Amino acid sequence: MKEVIIAPSILSADFAKLGEECAAMETAGADQLHIDVMDGHFVPNISYGAPIMKSLRKVNKMFFDTHLMISEPLRYIEDFVKGGADRITFHLECDNDPMEVIEKIKSFGVLPAIAIKPGTPYEKVVPYLPFIEMVLVMTVEPGFGGQSFMADMMPKVKALREIIEKEGLNVNIQVDGGIDKNTIGIAAKAGANIFVAGSALFKQENYAKAVEEIRSAAFA
Ligand code: DX5
Ligand code: ZN
Repeated sequence: MKEVIIAPSILSADFAKLGEECAAMETAGADQLHIDVMDGHFVPNISYGAPIMKSLRKVNKMFFDTHLMISEPLRYIEDFVKGGADRITFHLECDNDPMEVIEKIKSFGVLPAIAIKPGTPYEKVVPYLPFIEMVLVMTVEPGFGGQSFMADMMPKVKALREIIEKEGLNVNIQVDGGIDKNTIGIAAKAGANIFVAGSALFKQENYAKAVEEIRSAAFA
């Protein structure tokens, strides 16, 4: 059985007490913090940027999984590295050359990852698999938390997992959007191993219980 990595999306946290919220997630046993950056251009919404992350970095030692939903990632990689990113995921649909973005991320010793939107075929990301640490298959249209899981993305996850195994590559598959204790099993079965969850974790009363429930539901 593959290791299940749970990454709470801070988009659903109470920003007025972000530090405490993230500390509570760490205590609750979450593995990575998923940090959604939206520019109001690549996606309709605006969330937060590198300065918020930098402040959080000072009080939190967790793995920072940065999801850039922005048009020109190349311009901001250095800012997010300085903000304390451990992994930087950018969208294949962005305006920059993917290989150039990957090289830039790697030049800082940070892990590069590529995300694909629901409308993007998995084949498009295949040429980059040997150069990235993770592929993110979006299971909602990026831009907002609290949307419903798109089970019809699972064939993409399956196909990518098969290619990764066949080629002997060391690439994680992340799913993001609508993941909760009812849907995580579907994504795990398809071959995902890193699970982002916003509402299903931050909107719960008891974080430890929520993390445990979702984790144990992955391979139930
Ligand atoms: C959507 C973001 C997600 C979002 C997930 O654009 O990339 O990370 O926060 O939220 P839930 O888990 O509520 O769907
Ligand atoms: Zn995300």
